Amino acid sequence: MTYILDGKKVAKKLKDNLKGEIENLKNKYNRVPGLAVVQVGNVAASSIYVNAKTKAAKEVGINVFDHHLQDNIKQKDLIDLIEQLNYNDEVDGILVQLPLPKTFNEQEILDCITPKKDADGFHPINVGKLSISQKNDENLLIPCTPFGCLLLLRELDVSLAGKNAVIIGRSNIVGKPMAQLLLKESCTVTIVHSKTVEIEKICKSADILVAAIGKPELVKEDWVKDGAIIIDVGINRVQINQQKSKIVGDVNFEEVKRKAFAISPVPGGVGPMTIACLLRNTFISCKKKLLV
Ligand code: GUN
Repeated sequence: MTYILDGKKVAKKLKDNLKGEIENLKNKYNRVPGLAVVQVGNVAASSIYVNAKTKAAKEVGINVFDHHLQDNIKQKDLIDLIEQLNYNDEVDGILVQLPLPKTFNEQEILDCITPKKDADGFHPINVGKLSISQKNDENLLIPCTPFGCLLLLRELDVSLAGKNAVIIGRSNIVGKPMAQLLLKESCTVTIVHSKTVEIEKICKSADILVAAIGKPELVKEDWVKDGAIIIDVGINRVQINQQKSKIVGDVNFEEVKRKAFAISPVPGGVGPMTIACLLRNTFISCKKKLLV
């Protein structure tokens, strides 16, 4: 029987715990965490993610400061907003939903978020801390999707040390931080990407395969070793017919499920974990501030 990594269930457990911790914080310090959510423009997928993040934050008792801006605003206007949020005492976490419209210099924007309030863990200081920190450093602000993947892997109660981990995709949001996290777990880590030669063969050597490349159902049965653990980060909308579309991952779930020891579904796998980890980061930032 293949183990299905139920992200909804694991994320609910995390959110329930956080809700309790936020309640304790409120009783002790009369203060709840605040998360500023910044969206520029109206890309449909971004609106869906932002709404889901906002709803989940409110459910656990986080205050949400919503900043939805027109896509004709200037780089400077967005930087000014971030600087205000950096100094706002009620804001513990700042999230700028990516991608930004092409007219923006994304990295310059991410660099402006004070590292202490970097709810996504994308600031160079936090990226650097992730690469040099010890395993299980509770205070790190870790990029939400790869950390969510790691928490799903930990659900399996399988030792990760020494496993061959292959990550498909080299993005700053998922692929690279995922590699850092799995390296800390003592996995032997390989990143493959669009220019990799013999990508299928490398994937087939994986004990743990993390697919984060944004190509619908790229990973087929014959890409996967018997008994592998498969984490699917992809969220791709595909057209079924003229009226209907559906969401699929980067892995052909039905095919690969037959071979895998464990697999995360799409939807209901990594997606809910990303959101839960964002809430965790906001809580950590708030707690660190209150404890100094
Ligand atoms: N766009 C896709 N994933 C993410 C994420 O984890 N954080 C932000 N801010 N934007 C994203």
